[in-house]
Parts: sequence; structure tokens; C-alpha cells
Amino acid sequence: MTRHDPETSPRRAARAEAERLATAALTLPEAAADDAPAAASTRRALRRDAGAPQESASETRGIRRLAPVLLRRRLAGVAAAVVVIAGCAIAVGAAASGGSPEAASDAVAQIAGPPAVADDGIPVPQLAAVAATATPCDDPAFTTALAAGDDAAVIDAAGGGGAFRAAVASGIAPCVSLSDPNREWLVVNKQRPYDPVDYQPGDLVMPADVRALEDSALRAPAARALTSLVKAAADAGVGEIGYLSAYRSYTTQKSTYAGRVAVGGVAEADRESARPGYSEHQSGMAVDIVPCNGSCKTLDDVAASPQGAWVRDHAWEYGFITRYAEGRESVSGYEPEAWHLRYIGPELARAYREGGYTTLEEFFGLPAAPTY
Ligand code: DAL
Ligand code: ZN
Repeated sequence: MTRHDPETSPRRAARAEAERLATAALTLPEAAADDAPAAASTRRALRRDAGAPQESASETRGIRRLAPVLLRRRLAGVAAAVVVIAGCAIAVGAAASGGSPEAASDAVAQIAGPPAVADDGIPVPQLAAVAATATPCDDPAFTTALAAGDDAAVIDAAGGGGAFRAAVASGIAPCVSLSDPNREWLVVNKQRPYDPVDYQPGDLVMPADVRALEDSALRAPAARALTSLVKAAADAGVGEIGYLSAYRSYTTQKSTYAGRVAVGGVAEADRESARPGYSEHQSGMAVDIVPCNGSCKTLDDVAASPQGAWVRDHAWEYGFITRYAEGRESVSGYEPEAWHLRYIGPELARAYREGGYTTLEEFFGLPAAPTY
């Protein structure tokens, strides 16, 4: 058996051929080489105009020698630029999809192959094919639904709850305001008061077929969803769910908060009750549920009740989230409240659940709001 000659090994030969072809692609074409003296003469003219010393013959020879090198560097630069642009496209695609590799590869697929080399030897990068940053705010279906106040259609036009969240959280959807109190994606916390501070929703109704311990309404979509949730819990055999407090006006919240301050002081009150103008209850999309088995129990009984356990697992199916989760006070600003459900609509609630989120702040990429 003869020892394999590394110089003639097939792998080495293939690599050498590939290197030869790559070098050939970078070789300065004759026409371009012939242009080198012309370029030097243009530079001489420009330097003359600027009063600069004239180039010597040896400088000219140097330029002639350098021209192929410079052109190769230029070609390498263009290749590098294409790589950078491809990287940017991946980043944009990933941002728009919440980091999904599928979306990133879609973005790459839209980039044309290596730059063509024109007849005169000057490379022409095919940059026009790079996808522009996609924003749902440029989509007529999205903006029409937004203008019509149809939250479900807005989210549908964005491609679903996950895509909507990703677009908003990544900052590519500036037409979506998380401060709009009429929207299911409203975020109110200690850093985000209502504007106006005494905002009042327009479509408050009492939920049908739900035991209300107070004369307290919800916005129509949230009321319908609560009716469905309560029926589903009863059908699942976990018992009746009633509620204490849903919509609270700015004025009502003022006395609710003042009552807490009177009992435990400001610091204690701020951990469990929102100041007026900062409560989710003012949106008409939050409700405090209680377990009822014949008579109804208290808010503090929710966490350990079968109803509370069922709600933790199933409320998202009806568009609700547990807004103040265990151990998240440093972000949400409040102690855990197993009873406080916030309506964000079924599509967003699904994305919240599937993404494993425990605060609305993190869901939408907002800063934590532990204090005022
Ligand atoms: N208990 C909640 C934080 C509120 O007052 O809105
Ligand atoms: Zn509440």
C-alpha cells in the first residue's frame, strides 16, 4: 500500500481548484487594468487643482501596481457588506417574529445571491432585494381594523396574538398604543396612569348569568367572556364563581385606596391597592372573582379553592390572565392577587400563556413598575 501523497490527494486538489476559481474571480479584468492610468491622471488633476504636489512617475507605477489590489479589496468589501446586510435581515426577521428561526430564514431567502460583476468589472451588489423592515402599521388590513376599534381584527391582521406581541414589543408597531384605555392591550401600572386620568369606558354592562356581589359592570367583551368562563367552570364541576368588584371609577378608586391607607398606611396600601387613575378596574376590563358554594367566600379564599385552581389553568381560554402573579411584585408593583383577572382577549391571553409570561410588562417589553 503506498502512502497517500498529500499534494495529490483528491480533497487537496478540490480545495486548490476552489481557491484557483476564487482567485480568478478576483483577477482584475484587462479593461479595468487599462483604466488605472486614467484614474491616476484624474487624481493628479484633482491634486493639481487643490495645489498638492504632483505625482512622480514612480508614484504612478505604484498606483498601477496597487490598482488590482485595491479592486480586490473593494470586491472583498462588497462581499462583506452583503454578509452584513444578510445579518441585518436575519436580525429584522427575528425581531418581527419574536426570534423565530423560520422568520429569520425567510428574511435571508429574500436576499439575492452574490453580487453580479458588470462588464466593466465593477461589482454591482443586488441590494434592492433586501427586505425592508416589515411593520404591521403599513398593512391596510391592520390599520383599518385599528381605526375601526376592532381589536380582534387588528390582532388577526398582525398574524395572531404572538405576532402582535412580538411586533409591539420589538418597537416596529408604533401605531399601537399600549396606553389607549379602550384597547384590550392597554397596560396600566404605577408608571402608566390613564390619560385622561379620570377615563371612563363607554360600553359597561352587567355580565349575564354571573353572581355579582356588587353592582359593578364590565366592558361588553369582558362581560361576555366572564359569562362563558363562569359557565365553563360550573360545567367542569369546580363550583360557582361570583365576583365582587369589576369597573371602579376614578372617584370610587379614590375612596378604595384611601380606605386602605387608613388601615395600613401608604406603603402597605400601595402594595395592594392602586391609587386613583392607576387601577386596572377603571378600564372596565378587570374583575375580582370569589368562590361560591351556596354562599360566596372572600377574595383571600380564591387561591386555595377549586375555582381558583381551575381559573389558573383555564382563564386564558376566555381571554383573561391573572394579572398579579406570585413573586412578581418587583415588576407588577403589587402583591399576588389570585382573584384579580384582567381581560386581554383570547388571542393575547393565548400568547401570554404559551409564552409563559407572568406579567403584562414583560409580555410587551415594558419596564418594571414596582413604584410610582
Ligand atoms: N388591587 C389592584 C392592584 C387595584 O387596586 O387595581
Ligand atoms: Zn382587582
